[in-house]
Amino acid sequence: MGTCREKFLNWSLSRLIYVQVWLWLVEQLVVAIDGPAGAGKSTAARMIADRLQFDFLDTGAMYRCATLAALRAGVELTDQSSVAELVRQLDIQLEGRNVWLNGEDVSLAIRTPSVSSQIGPIADNMQVRRQLSQWQRSWAQDRHVVTEGRDQGTEVFPDARCKIFLTASSEERARRRVQELSAQGIEADYPGILDQQNQRDRDDARREFGGLRKAADAVEVVTDGMTLEQVVDRLETIIRPWISTPSPECQLDVRS
Ligand code: C5P
Repeated sequence: MGTCREKFLNWSLSRLIYVQVWLWLVEQLVVAIDGPAGAGKSTAARMIADRLQFDFLDTGAMYRCATLAALRAGVELTDQSSVAELVRQLDIQLEGRNVWLNGEDVSLAIRTPSVSSQIGPIADNMQVRRQLSQWQRSWAQDRHVVTEGRDQGTEVFPDARCKIFLTASSEERARRRVQELSAQGIEADYPGILDQQNQRDRDDARREFGGLRKAADAVEVVTDGMTLEQVVDRLETIIRPWISTPSPECQLDVRS
């Protein structure tokens, strides 16, 4: 009888371990990609998410929506409580490449130089950061997700298993931003964009909470001289080993 009980306990234990290992393997994978403005993060992160069939979270779009909403409401951007109260009531939906703010497609409106240059006080607002970070975490719940921003690997998803810091020289970044804007029909001059970008870099770096920092366990990718395709390939090389394996040291080749 004792032996039977022991066998049953052993069997149950082995099943339990099996189920736990299985759950661990299929666990949500968050790929956190951070880096400075204009490093081509959004485009590359979106492309790698498509390639891996992961969902994509553009957190910069959320800060942009908050800024646009505050500007439209005529709220003083430095009035932290009023801005936070306004942001709490926003309905921000990210659907593919489209961004909806309270039911309106603001995909282009949030990317104008006027919005870009006024994000600073909104991104500095601790209450806003807390609210947006909370939305980002619940958005990512139970999904395989590529998330992109400044603070994803450090503050929002510090336990993300795969973290990447994507960067490039400021000149290269400004040049790319001008091209990106003109492809969208938005006129922009290089010196102006470079100035604006340097200012944003300084603002993003000095921010005490959610500032631009490379997480200690992030892999750095410098994209100067690389084509978009090369950047995405490099991201894939970094991310692939994490898919379905607990650590890159014990890789399974999941490429078909
Ligand atoms: O990524 P993108 O350039 O669209 O972000 C716009 C601005 O939003 C950044 O310059 C930064 O100030 C802010 N931001 C942030 N934290 C994030 C994403 C963006 O503070 N996670």
